[in-house]
Amino acid sequence: MEVSVDNKALFHLMLLLLSLSFPPSAFGLTCHAGDKQALLGFKARITSDPSGLLNSWNSSTDCCSWGGIGCDSSSRVVNVSRSGLTSGPFGLDTFMKGTLSPSLGNLTFLQLLDLSDLKELTGHIPPEFGKLTRLNYLFLDSNKLTGSIPTTFRNLSQLKELYLGYNQISGTIPSSVFESLRSLTELSLSGNILSGPIPESIDTSSLLTMIYLDGNNLSGPLPSSIGKLKHLTFLSLGENQITGSIPSSFSGLSSLEYCFLGNNKLTGSLPLSIGTLSNTKGLYLQNNRLTGQLPATIGNLVNLTDLLLVRNKLSGAIPGNLLNLTALTYFDVSNNNLSGMIPPHTANIPASAFKNNSGLCGAPLPPC
Ligand SMILES: *[C@@H]1O[C@H](CO)[C@@H](O)[C@H](O)[C@H]1NC(C)=O
Ligand SMILES: *[C@@H]1O[C@H](CO)[C@@H](O)[C@H](O)[C@H]1NC(C)=O
Ligand SMILES: *[C@@H]1O[C@H](CO)[C@@H](O)[C@H](O)[C@H]1NC(C)=O
Ligand SMILES: *[C@@H]1O[C@H](CO)[C@@H](O)[C@H](O)[C@H]1NC(C)=O
Ligand SMILES: *[C@@H]1O[C@H](CO)[C@@H](O)[C@H](O)[C@H]1NC(C)=O
Ligand SMILES: *[C@@H]1O[C@H](CO)[C@@H](O)[C@H](O)[C@H]1NC(C)=O
Ligand SMILES: *[C@@H]1O[C@H](CO)[C@@H](O)[C@H](O)[C@H]1NC(C)=O
Ligand SMILES: *[C@@H]1O[C@H](CO)[C@@H](O)[C@H](O)[C@H]1NC(C)=O
Ligand SMILES: *[C@@H]1O[C@H](CO)[C@@H](O)[C@H](O)[C@H]1NC(C)=O
Repeated sequence: MEVSVDNKALFHLMLLLLSLSFPPSAFGLTCHAGDKQALLGFKARITSDPSGLLNSWNSSTDCCSWGGIGCDSSSRVVNVSRSGLTSGPFGLDTFMKGTLSPSLGNLTFLQLLDLSDLKELTGHIPPEFGKLTRLNYLFLDSNKLTGSIPTTFRNLSQLKELYLGYNQISGTIPSSVFESLRSLTELSLSGNILSGPIPESIDTSSLLTMIYLDGNNLSGPLPSSIGKLKHLTFLSLGENQITGSIPSSFSGLSSLEYCFLGNNKLTGSLPLSIGTLSNTKGLYLQNNRLTGQLPATIGNLVNLTDLLLVRNKLSGAIPGNLLNLTALTYFDVSNNNLSGMIPPHTANIPASAFKNNSGLCGAPLPPC
């Protein structure tokens, strides 16, 4: 017998009424027991939660209903994020004290883990997090985590965004991380105490668009392989101990918009090939030990708004075609060893931008 249109409508109405009257748990769709245990394991290691962010994490209720938890249609936990965010007069209240429980590694269906900005999470990142092989987003930034980046992270092959910045993470950047994280688009390890070189294997994560490694203690040269990152728009490596010269392979960074290399120990001259970075808007190279002349090819960077070269050892004349870059608003070559006549068209650039060179002259400085 065929079900009539009316019967179908009635059936759907009954389903709707049923689903309104009973929570999903009434149909046995409570969260997976192992997932629940893993989450309670996390809660057990939180020693202070003054804002009650985990108040809804009650063992007698369905964990899919807890604050900050997202489940898929099979009631597996796929998202864990800072729960119960309240926007008070002092901004987001996300304070939480404690350590990261290894039990979170049992959430094998997890796609998003956001425990950033809880400010007082201490201890190391459990190597068990390497079991989260479906993870797309891992945000643990702005805490007080110590220890090193677990080598088990090489198993996180689906990871797209990794934010571990503004902690106290030490050790080196494991090269295996880049060799395995082929889906990675955004990496932030800023504001830690990482040391050692930037791995040459960085180009294996070929989809990277943003790299933030500033404010660490990284040393050694810039890997020339970095030039293969065609999608990279944002490169932030300032405030480290990076040595050597800017590799000519940088010209391969065809999407690069902002490049922060200031406050390092870079030597050598700017590569001529820098002129091919036609999308670049900001180039920050201050406080290094760069020598040689400013390549005239910088004049090709028509979208450049910020060019910061203060406190280097650049010499020779400022190329004439540089200062007719019409978008340039923030320009500083002070404290170098430049000489000769300042090119015309400098109306908007203050004299201080040319201060303390060996022999620059012409407006806005005294005439030659
Ligand atoms: C958990 O929920 C039950 C039932 O809603 C309640 O009786 C109990 O007090 C709660 N436990 C905690 C620790 O909040
Ligand atoms: C999990 O988080 C992602 C990214 O924020 C979001 O798009 C998705 O809707 C969330 N899923 C669930 C079930 O909460
Ligand atoms: C992970 O789950 C297994 C199996 O349920 C359990 O034996 C183990 O103790 C859990 N690991 C942690 C760190 O909680
Ligand atoms: C990582 O993956 C390898 C196999 O690719 C496996 O042997 C190892 O146990 C995994 N480690 C973790 C922490 O899951
Ligand atoms: C940074 O590295 C240098 C050696 O390269 C070392 O002398 C210094 O103590 C390190 N600083 C920190 C804060 O780790
Ligand atoms: C400069 O920027 C504009 C708009 O942002 C863009 O359309 C143009 O392609 C850029 N120029 C070059 C040479 O990339
Ligand atoms: C800058 O202006 C000079 C003439 O002053 C011109 O020859 C040169 O082509 C211009 N360069 C750019 C990049 O516009
Ligand atoms: C400055 O440049 C001149 C050549 O233009 C060179 O003779 C001199 O040694 C340089 N001074 C410094 C401090 O580098
Ligand atoms: C000018 O340069 C010298 C040598 O680099 C430096 O010692 C001095 O502090 C600089 N003066 C100013 C005003 O920046």
